[in-house]
Amino acid sequence: MERPDNRSYKLRGARATPAQEAAYVRLWDVYGIVPDGVLNLKDYFPNEKRIIMEIGTGMGEATAQIVKEDPQTGFLAIEVHKPGIGALMNMAAKNESTNLRIIEEDAHMVLHHWIADDSLDAIHLFFPDPWPKNPHKKRRIVQNPFLELIAPKIKAGGYIHVATDWVEYATWIAGVFEKSPLFSGGVIDRPTFRPISKFEGQGLKKGHLVNDFRFFKN
Ligand SMILES: C[S@@+](CC[C@H](N)C(=O)[O-])C[C@H]1O[C@@H](n2cnc3c(N)ncnc32)[C@H](O)[C@@H]1O
Repeated sequence: MERPDNRSYKLRGARATPAQEAAYVRLWDVYGIVPDGVLNLKDYFPNEKRIIMEIGTGMGEATAQIVKEDPQTGFLAIEVHKPGIGALMNMAAKNESTNLRIIEEDAHMVLHHWIADDSLDAIHLFFPDPWPKNPHKKRRIVQNPFLELIAPKIKAGGYIHVATDWVEYATWIAGVFEKSPLFSGGVIDRPTFRPISKFEGQGLKKGHLVNDFRFFKN
């Protein structure tokens, strides 16, 4: 019998370019974290004024830019795709960014085991895999158990920012948050701080409409 797979990501071919591979090896000690228990994020971001977790940084172009533009914020990137992690490290090193750390693991695992309650000012979730087919919708990361997982980790007054270019997923996201007593918020204008990633650009070329949401923890 086939094992049900509820992972929110596709296990894509993990072949990195030589530059991504080299960056991953050379820069892991600078940017990588391999947790062995609940993290004290202040150890990694001692001077930063706030800490934002980004889930699913993809190829990292948007993240590297956001990290560069906001050196007062510590960014904790969570990604499972090794070539993307290598690419992000490469760009961050070129920018001489010190306010970035990366964990290579499923965000559910990270949040469950390694993130202390009330330790994040915000979460960025930009263009999560839309899983458009009905049998796959259970793999969408935005589900009520995910909201229950993230809410305690976000500080009072904190928020999650979600962007999607899949209109039906946008309706789904709005519905999941609306039903939850844990968050309040809704659609916001496209923020100027978020550059267009390759993934978003591909969607825009196909005429996809992008929705940004910000939901504050209640
Ligand atoms: C569609 S891509 C978007 C990437 C990027 N945010 C952008 O705008 O280009 C979604 C990314 O989320 C990652 N991802 C999905 N589920 C994840 C999870 N549970 N933990 C960590 N990363 C995840 C995937 O590996 C993929 O790189």
